[in-house]
Amino acid sequence: MRILLFIHGFNALSQRLFVELEALGHEVSIEFDIHDDNTREAIKLFQPDLVLAPYLKRAIPRDIWENTRCLILHPGPLGDKGPSALDWAILKGESHWGATLLQAEEEMDGGPVWESRSFAMAERPKSSLYRSEISDIAVASVKDALKRIEAGEASPRRLSKQDEDVTGNLQPAIRHKDRVIDWKKDDSETILRKIRSADGVPGAQDGFFGRSLYLYDAHRVSDEALLILNAAPGAVIAKSGFALCRKTKDGALWIGHMRDPHGEHGFKLPAALVLEADLDKELSEVGGYPTICSHRIGDVTHLHFPFYNGAMSTSECEDLLAAYREAAQQDSKVIVLHGGPDFWSNGMHLNVIEASNDAANESWRNINAIDDLAEAIIRTESHLTVAVMHGNAGAGGVFLARACDQVWLRDGVILNPHYKDMGNLYGSEFWTYLLPRYAGEENANRIAEQRLPMGADEAAMLGLADKVLSNNRAFFASEVDEQVMQLCEANVWSNLIDKKIKQRREDEAIKPLSTYREEELTRMRGNFFGFDPSYHVARYNFVHNIAKSRTPITLARHRDKRYQSGAAHRSTHKGYGT
Ligand code: COA
Repeated sequence: MRILLFIHGFNALSQRLFVELEALGHEVSIEFDIHDDNTREAIKLFQPDLVLAPYLKRAIPRDIWENTRCLILHPGPLGDKGPSALDWAILKGESHWGATLLQAEEEMDGGPVWESRSFAMAERPKSSLYRSEISDIAVASVKDALKRIEAGEASPRRLSKQDEDVTGNLQPAIRHKDRVIDWKKDDSETILRKIRSADGVPGAQDGFFGRSLYLYDAHRVSDEALLILNAAPGAVIAKSGFALCRKTKDGALWIGHMRDPHGEHGFKLPAALVLEADLDKELSEVGGYPTICSHRIGDVTHLHFPFYNGAMSTSECEDLLAAYREAAQQDSKVIVLHGGPDFWSNGMHLNVIEASNDAANESWRNINAIDDLAEAIIRTESHLTVAVMHGNAGAGGVFLARACDQVWLRDGVILNPHYKDMGNLYGSEFWTYLLPRYAGEENANRIAEQRLPMGADEAAMLGLADKVLSNNRAFFASEVDEQVMQLCEANVWSNLIDKKIKQRREDEAIKPLSTYREEELTRMRGNFFGFDPSYHVARYNFVHNIAKSRTPITLARHRDKRYQSGAAHRSTHKGYGT
């Protein structure tokens, strides 16, 4: 089928659908919802059999849905309507939630239903549920609906309020005041729900040091001393790196990130950076906020680094390198690098760079710090290294993972192994060594130029990953444990270690790692310090969340002259060489 993905932004869910639909052989093109006339033009150019809208902020015009079948994904159960479905579900503490695939009609979210599925709510932020549970059931629903449509089967179901399975109803758009935090009245669990219901956008509003801030990235505190400390609710009582511990009326919470819309930087930053000038200099530093942690099980050292949004600042890269070096000193056999639950890594921390006094220099420090880590991993001879991806990775994060001997993906994970969308950034992390080595020269060029997301199977097919394991998080964890044990078996381990040392020495003889690094960094120096400001402009737009004014041609293939003339591969965006 010819499917037009009609979206507000190419977010994780749209990327996942794009990847899965192309893998099924559908011809997919993408148009951003910018203006109704652009949409009409896209329909005219592409002539889709179906318009699929997994992420829209406003209704599709009548003349479009009247003439082309339009399916809309609503992140709520049967009967639920309104623009803040998941926000309300988290705020109200629902135990189960759902997603429904509807056919567009006059009433928003009121059309007949093609598919609806539910899931058990986990205690995670909105963006995390959206990227994982909602994405999983959305993909399953779309696939089933497409099968039914292709088979010419049944029409969608029109709901009636009397239907027993219709559990939802119309909910209003959530307002800031619906989740504004009252530290005197709200207990820890209420505050946690308020923040999680608004994470990553727009954040839960809170007055702090006379400022109106938005809070993100909240976690329970387990340290008994902090929980019972006598302080006024809302008071900052400790810090852990850049996270702040705030007293609640019945305990305490970690707040990792904040945004001050009227401050010097209006975007999201680590909490202690936003409040730098206001914080008590004597504030005690304690552990507790989830950050780098390492533990050993038998012959395996596990390294977790759940950096918020997968962004890795200079200091975080330095800390991770220190933790990695410590792991490599142990007499274990395998080091497993887990990243975090939502992201493995998205490369340099663009927000911290944007907030620094000298963005070019901070970019330089950050890329060098990631490169140091990537280089240490590549040069490791004492251990086998495995990147285990529970969540997505982008840009330098993908190549940092590929620096490991093995890359194992949870099924459903999306990779974005390219840099150019960030103002033509050249990229480093030894990608010019790693990508051709694993994917071959031709595919490496294609991946870099196409700037498209990639699913787990495709990543494995192209050598960017070695194994695709279960999508279910619990099964994935046990499969990883099982497979790591196999790597530790004496024969397997020594064969693989010998092989990797030999390969590395051969590669080094052909072209030293230092040369790859120097060449990449020369290009990056140009991006950071050169006369072309594209990277700085793109980074500014990215951190300020400035919507695109047109759909990039890499996505809107119906606007690509080569595609229109038949010169580009017609059935999918990719079409790899073998
Ligand atoms: N630095 C800081 N924040 C980052 C980040 C980075 N490198 N990568 C992602 N984020 C943040 C986003 O701003 C967003 O923030 P929000 O919580 O305020 O919404 C959040 O992480 C999720 O990212 P989003 O872009 O919505 O996720 P996605 O799944 O739609 O797209 C990527 C994934 C990787 C394509 C996209 O995030 C991206 O292009 N990131 C930048 C990668 C990069 O260029 N890194 C620098 C070069 S190494």
